[in-house]
Amino acid sequence: MTAIAVLGSTNMDLVAYVPKAPRLGETVTGREFRTVPGGKGANQAVAAARLGGEVVMIGAVGADDFGVRLRSALTAAGVETAALRTVEGASGTAHITVDDEGANSIVVIPGANGTVTGLEAGDASRIGAADCLLLQLELPLEAVLAGAAAARAHGVRTVLTPAPARPLPRELLELIDLLVPNEHEAAALTGSTDPLAAAEALLHEVPEVVVTLGAAGALYAARGREPVTVPAPRVRAVDTTGAGDTFVGALAVALGEGRPMPQALAWAARAASVSVQRPGAQDSMPTRAEVDPGGVL
Ligand code: RIB
Ligand code: NA
Repeated sequence: MTAIAVLGSTNMDLVAYVPKAPRLGETVTGREFRTVPGGKGANQAVAAARLGGEVVMIGAVGADDFGVRLRSALTAAGVETAALRTVEGASGTAHITVDDEGANSIVVIPGANGTVTGLEAGDASRIGAADCLLLQLELPLEAVLAGAAAARAHGVRTVLTPAPARPLPRELLELIDLLVPNEHEAAALTGSTDPLAAAEALLHEVPEVVVTLGAAGALYAARGREPVTVPAPRVRAVDTTGAGDTFVGALAVALGEGRPMPQALAWAARAASVSVQRPGAQDSMPTRAEVDPGGVL
């Protein structure tokens, strides 16, 4: 079993399903509203756990009803939550609009996630016991840095999803083994809208890069190796929220099981393709049987 630690955010996603997202100043009538568990960190944790990973989640929820629900969603997926603190105030929320193409726009209010500014007692050893540490950018940067440093000190592989996009200090990038931006984040980090050129530029900072390309799959680049592109199965998307997180959680499980990168990427792309066909971030994440050959694709 792959042991995975996640240091990251837990949000309640407040999702409005609309035919078309409103423009600035415009009001549109939506079809449906859902309150579903999300947050990039918790999403990656749930994705990995559902696919057979042994996962610990480090982070914080608020002392509100959302916090209770968010924790139990993680527990129900089999994620260990002893290191998920409950802190005063509101849980993180994400205010999401999903259109008829399944595409989204998101406003995140960090809430409890914003109180996570470093590691607490026991966290470093939880990270040290894992095969890999999954990081994103929905916690304060100090926490991300502290987690990455603890992982590096224990020889644990670090995987950073640089989302939401922001400039990254070199001291963080130096601690990252595998960077997994989507094409927009790769462009924001490098100034290059060509994913291959962006990936090659990022190899100056980190040894391995996977650029996720949505329906077009993913591109893998590593120092001194030929880049590899892996296609995604063709499916009809209803909600792509959390698809990137599903991809990363699945990739971590597959790599931890010793699968070669191209095979791990293809499996992760299948997992993400299953998730986009169902609404909600965590709610849509597949089990192993659904992703393996003969599953639902
Ligand atoms: O990556 C998807 C996630 O981003 C959503 O679940 C939402 O919580 C936002 O944080
Ligand atoms: Na989905």
